[in-house]
Amino acid sequence: MPLHVSQHPLVAHKLAILRDKTTEPKKFRELVRELTWLLGYEAMADLATRPEPIETPLEPMTAARLEPRVGLIPILRAGLGMVDAMLELLPTAEVWHIGLYRDERTLKPVEYYNKLPDAATAQVCLVLDPMLATGGSAAATIDILKQWGAARIKQVSLIAAPEGARTLEAAHPDVDIHVAAMDSHLNERGYIVPGLGDAGDRQFGTFAGPASEPGREPGDEAAAVVRRLQRNLEG
Ligand code: PRP
Ligand code: URA
Repeated sequence: MPLHVSQHPLVAHKLAILRDKTTEPKKFRELVRELTWLLGYEAMADLATRPEPIETPLEPMTAARLEPRVGLIPILRAGLGMVDAMLELLPTAEVWHIGLYRDERTLKPVEYYNKLPDAATAQVCLVLDPMLATGGSAAATIDILKQWGAARIKQVSLIAAPEGARTLEAAHPDVDIHVAAMDSHLNERGYIVPGLGDAGDRQFGTFAGPASEPGREPGDEAAAVVRRLQRNLEG
C-alpha cells in the first residue's frame, strides 16, 4: 500500500497540540520538528542496508550500514521546518530545495525556485511538506524529481486530505505517502478540514497575508477545483 497513516500514540498526541489554534509559532515549529522525526523514522523503515565488517571493542562483527544515498526535498516554505529533524536522522543526506506556492485562486502550484543539480545524485528522495491538500504541489514536485532522474520517491507530510492523497496516488502510484493523519475533507478554499490552518504562516508567524487566511471567502475557481477533486473521490 503506498499510503501509510501513522498509528503511533505519540504522533497523535503531538498532532493534537499542533492543530490547536492557540499553539504559538515557537511551539508549532518544535512540534513540526518532533513529528517529522517520528514520521521520518517510520518512512525509512524499508531502506536497504549493506553488510559491513567492523570491530567493536570486544570482537569483529558484520554490522548493517544504510545503503542508498538519500536526498531531502523540502517544498518551500512550509517544508523547511521538516529539514532539521530529517538531518538529525540522516546527517549525510543531501538537501535540494524546490520553491512552489499555491495560487489561492486556481489552487495550482506555481514554481519559483529549483536548486536541483543537473543529474540525480540520490537514490531515495524524501519530499517534505507538512500539508497534502489538493495534492497539486506534491505531484508537481514529484514530476520534477522524476524528470531529474530520481529512482525512488517518498512523500512525507503531517496532514493529508483524502482528495489530495487520491490525486497523488493516481499521478504517482509508485510513490509511498507517509502522513501523521488523514483528515476529513477540503473546504471550498482548498484548506484541509479540520487541519491546522496555513502551515507556513503558523511556523513563520506571517498571519497578515491577504490571501492565505483559511476563513476568507472562497473564489469560484478554487471552489470548482475542490468540487472536481471531491467528485473524483466519489467516482
Ligand atoms: C502549502 C503547503 C503545500 C501546499 C499544499 O504551501 O505547504 O506546499 O500549500 O497544497 P496543495 O496540496 O493543494 O498543493 P503554500 O502554497 O501555502 O506555500 P507556503 O509554504 O509558501 O506558505
Ligand atoms: N496549505 C496549508 O498550509 N494548509 C492547508 O490546509 C492547505 C494548504
